[in-house]
Amino acid sequence: MNWKIIQGGMGVGVSTPWLANVVSKMGGLGTVSGVAADRWLARMLQLGDPDGKIRNALSNFPFKETAKRIQDTFFVEGGITKDQLFKNLPVFTFRTPKLLIDLTVCANFVLVFLAKEACGYPVNMNYLEKIQMPLIYSFTGAMLAGVDYITMGAGIPLQVPAILDNLAAGKPVSYRITVDGRSEPALLNFDPAAHFAEELPELKRPGFFPIISSNLLSDLFMTKASGSFEGFIVELPTAGGHNAAPRGKYPLNEKGEPVYGAKDEIFFEKLIKHNKPFWIGGSYASPEQVKYAQSLGAKGIQAGSIFALSEESGMQKEYKDEIRKLAFNNQLVVKTDLYASPTGFPFKVVQLPGTLSQTNVYDARTRICNHGFLTSAYQRPDQSIGFRCASERIEQYVRKGGKIEDTENRRCLCNGLIASSELTNPGEAPILTLGDDTSFIKHLMKNENDTYTAADAMEYLLG
Ligand SMILES: Cc1cc2nc3c(=O)[nH]c(=O)nc-3n(C[C@H](O)[C@H](O)[C@H](O)COP(=O)(O)O)c2cc1C
Repeated sequence: MNWKIIQGGMGVGVSTPWLANVVSKMGGLGTVSGVAADRWLARMLQLGDPDGKIRNALSNFPFKETAKRIQDTFFVEGGITKDQLFKNLPVFTFRTPKLLIDLTVCANFVLVFLAKEACGYPVNMNYLEKIQMPLIYSFTGAMLAGVDYITMGAGIPLQVPAILDNLAAGKPVSYRITVDGRSEPALLNFDPAAHFAEELPELKRPGFFPIISSNLLSDLFMTKASGSFEGFIVELPTAGGHNAAPRGKYPLNEKGEPVYGAKDEIFFEKLIKHNKPFWIGGSYASPEQVKYAQSLGAKGIQAGSIFALSEESGMQKEYKDEIRKLAFNNQLVVKTDLYASPTGFPFKVVQLPGTLSQTNVYDARTRICNHGFLTSAYQRPDQSIGFRCASERIEQYVRKGGKIEDTENRRCLCNGLIASSELTNPGEAPILTLGDDTSFIKHLMKNENDTYTAADAMEYLLG
């Protein structure tokens, strides 16, 4: 665990197995994003899996019948054409269809298998606590492929260590799902051995790193975690993706972004007292910042944006080229948007023509919720549990008891982030996220049209 560099988990599909593979090979900890892994696998198979790597990974899945069914359902010889739509998939509920559970387990298996293939170095999977419904299936798939570590933020994943312990012991597991309007969470249960009707292979217990944004959270983990964990990833509000909101009441700057203050400061000397290794993420992507992080007591850094813009990331090339060019010319604008994410967390949005960062593109999109990852469970008047998302159709959200003011300016991050990757349906507008700092670009590119690989990024960061 002496990595100087942890490559951040970046969903949807930005942290590819190929990116993680390079980072791990070069002595960092490579991370694959497990967010919406089911969509990733189904769509990669529909694109025809030209080099056969995904089908090879599937052929190593321990439950052969299941792998065959997934391949038979989604693989398209030669791939679908650019103007064809991908197959619709169901969403997660308390009665998730078996096909979606199998797809999720297989997808997480394939992602880890591909990242470890031909290198055998440790590989990390990243999930978001906010996306609770697929988690127990995802952990199972990743562990079947021997995942070494799991990182998780966007929520407080106190219950995860015990779940990993139980899965490693071959036991059934439950995830406590938060339900709006209920004081008690609802239990989502999964017994992998019963589900596959076969004995499970022996599973290794992966190490666990919660992603935290305050000393309060690290203290909470030290006293209340349900089992062991290896250390912390500290994510500052300058990091890409979702950010923690400032604590208490906070002012906005002239761009409408939240201003973080003294209450949000992290005291690293307090963190050191926990005797756990930690890494710092958020505008730390330079060799000088790696050293600075170490002077604060960290083992190193977690970096995202520098890898998101490298050749091996899953971000669509057209956007990557445009963003790199803007960053090279000091013209890139990234806004910390308080409303874009239906989760209510601030979310970093790259301001780019043709994307959902622009009001005209946002207004032109018909609201549709067909992936459902960021939905919240809520209690219906008849006590049953439904799911709603502030980015879904407004009438529908309000009919489900949601407040109309919560729907204002919400972007569909599921479709928007999938559309920023190579796996998009035609006509869907993307949304792109990055951290505040892209000054690394000038060290990696000679001109605005230049490019760089993950290995170049690693060499630069390692000085
Ligand atoms: C494109 C992108 C997507 C991200 N998605 C996630 C995510 O799904 N889960 C997560 O924990 N962090 C996510 N992050 C945060 C990164 O893992 C990392 O902590 C952060 O980018 C570090 O800051 P930096 O971008 O300044 O290097 C994302 C960051 C980027 C740039």
